[in-house]
Amino acid sequence: MTETFTPVAAPRADRVMSRLETAFAARRNVLEIIPALAYKQPIVTGEMLIRWHMLADPGGLRRVLLENLDNYPKSEIMRRMLRPAIGNSLFNADGAEWKWQRRAVVPVFTHRNVVALAPAMAATAERVSARLRAGNGRREMVAEMLTATFDVICDVALSGRDHFDAKTFGAAITRYFQTAGRASLLDFLGVPEWFPRPGELLAGSSVRTMHNMVAQAIDARRKVATGGADDLLDYMLAAEDPETRRRMSADDLVYNMQFFIVAGHETTALALSWALYLLANAPEHQERAYRQAVAQLQGRAATAADLPAIPFIEQILDESMRLYPPVGLLARNVLAKDEVCGREMRPNEILFLPIWALHRHEMWWDRPGEFDPDRFSPEARTGRDRYQYLPFGAGPRVCVGADFAMTQAQIILATLVQRFQFSPAEPAPKPIMTMTVRPEPGVFLNVTERT
Ligand code: HEM
Repeated sequence: MTETFTPVAAPRADRVMSRLETAFAARRNVLEIIPALAYKQPIVTGEMLIRWHMLADPGGLRRVLLENLDNYPKSEIMRRMLRPAIGNSLFNADGAEWKWQRRAVVPVFTHRNVVALAPAMAATAERVSARLRAGNGRREMVAEMLTATFDVICDVALSGRDHFDAKTFGAAITRYFQTAGRASLLDFLGVPEWFPRPGELLAGSSVRTMHNMVAQAIDARRKVATGGADDLLDYMLAAEDPETRRRMSADDLVYNMQFFIVAGHETTALALSWALYLLANAPEHQERAYRQAVAQLQGRAATAADLPAIPFIEQILDESMRLYPPVGLLARNVLAKDEVCGREMRPNEILFLPIWALHRHEMWWDRPGEFDPDRFSPEARTGRDRYQYLPFGAGPRVCVGADFAMTQAQIILATLVQRFQFSPAEPAPKPIMTMTVRPEPGVFLNVTERT
C-alpha cells in the first residue's frame, strides 16, 4: 500500500459572515471567505450589497469560461487593483483590446519558443543546486524558488541583468503585493472608486520603480536589436496581430512585460515550493521521483528533451497545483441575464470561481484532501472533465504562459529531486491567499545532498 499524506488546508467559513467580517477575512486570507458549502455543492449564492455566486461545477465553469465568455468579463474590483501595475495589458484587458493582444502574444509562447528558452531554465537549476549545496541544512524554499524563477525570467525576458537590478525590482514587487495587492476593505464596503485607497499611494512608488526598470531594458534592446529573435523581449518586440498587423506601443510593451515578469515568476515559484513541501512529507513519492529523475539525468540538469521520460515530475506538479493552485480564486462580473447550474445570473452580480474549492471538491475528487500524484497518471486523467482542474484557467482566456511555467517548473524540480533529499522542518506552512496562494511563513525544509 502506498503512503497517504493529508497536507495543510485552509479554514472554511462554516457560517455566513457579515460584510465587515468578510472584508477583514479577505484582507487576511481570501481562502477563508470560501464557505464550507462551496466544497460540497456546485454553486453557492449569497448577498453582500450585491448578490454573488461561488461556482465550483465543471459544467457551469465551461459555460462561464467558454460557451458564454463575453457575458462574464473580469471583475472590475480585481482589474482596478491590477491596473496601476499592468494597465490594460493582456491579462487585464477585455473585448477588442484583449482580442488583438491575445492574437499577438500567443505565437510568442509557442512550444518551439519555450524549448528555445529552456537552456536558461537548466542554467538556473544549476545555480539553485549550487546555493543549496553551499548551505545544507534547514532552508526556506519559497525565497529559494523565487530567486530561481526570477533568474529565469530576467534571463529570458530581458537577456540578463545589465539594465536591471534584480534586487531592487524584487523589493518593489514585494512592496506592491503587500499594499495594492490586498483586496481593499474600501472596495468591499462599496466606497466609490475615486476615493484614494491607502495602499495605492504606497504602491505607486513601487510601480514607478518597476516600470522605469522595464522601460530602460526595452529601450536598451531597441538600440542594439539585431533583428534576430532569441528571447522573450525580442519575441514581444516582433509580436503583431496577424489579422490587423497592429504592433505593441511602448506602453503596451512595458505593461505586458511587467506582467510576465511579476506573474511569470511568482506563480511558478509557489507551485515549486508547495511541491517540495508535499514531497518532503511523502518520502515514498519523493523516492519514486528521485529514481525516475536520476535514471534519466544521471546527475546533470534536466533539459526540455528529458521531460517526456520523467512524467512523474509533471504528475507531482499537477497534484501540487490541485491542492495549492497558485491562483486560487477568479472573479467575473455578470453582464446580462443567464442561467448557470440552474441558477439565475442577473446583470451586475459578482461570480467567483473558487479554483481552490473546485480542486478540493467532494463531488469531483475522491479523498480530496490527500496528496496523490497518481491522480494525474495518463489512465487516471482519461475521461476527466477538462473543467474540473483549472490551475491555468480555461477557454479563450487560458494562461498563455502555462507551457513556459510547466517546462520551467519540471526542469527545476527534476534537477533538485535527483540531487537533494528533502524532509520537513518547523514551522509547517499555512496557505494564505492575497493575490496568490502563498505558504506562510514559508516552506522550511531540511535539505541534504544525495551522494
Ligand atoms: C504556475 C504558473 C502559473 C499559473 C498557476 C498561472 C495561472 C493563470 C490563470 C489561472 C490565468 C487565467 C486568469 C483568468 O481567467 O482570470 C492566467 C492567465 C494569464 N497568464 Fe498565467 N499562470 C502562470 C504562469 C504564467 C507565466 C509564466 C506567464 C507569462 C510569462 C503567464 C501569463 C499569463 C497571461 C498573459 C494571462 C492572461 C491571458 C488572457 O487573459 O488572455 N502566466 N494565468
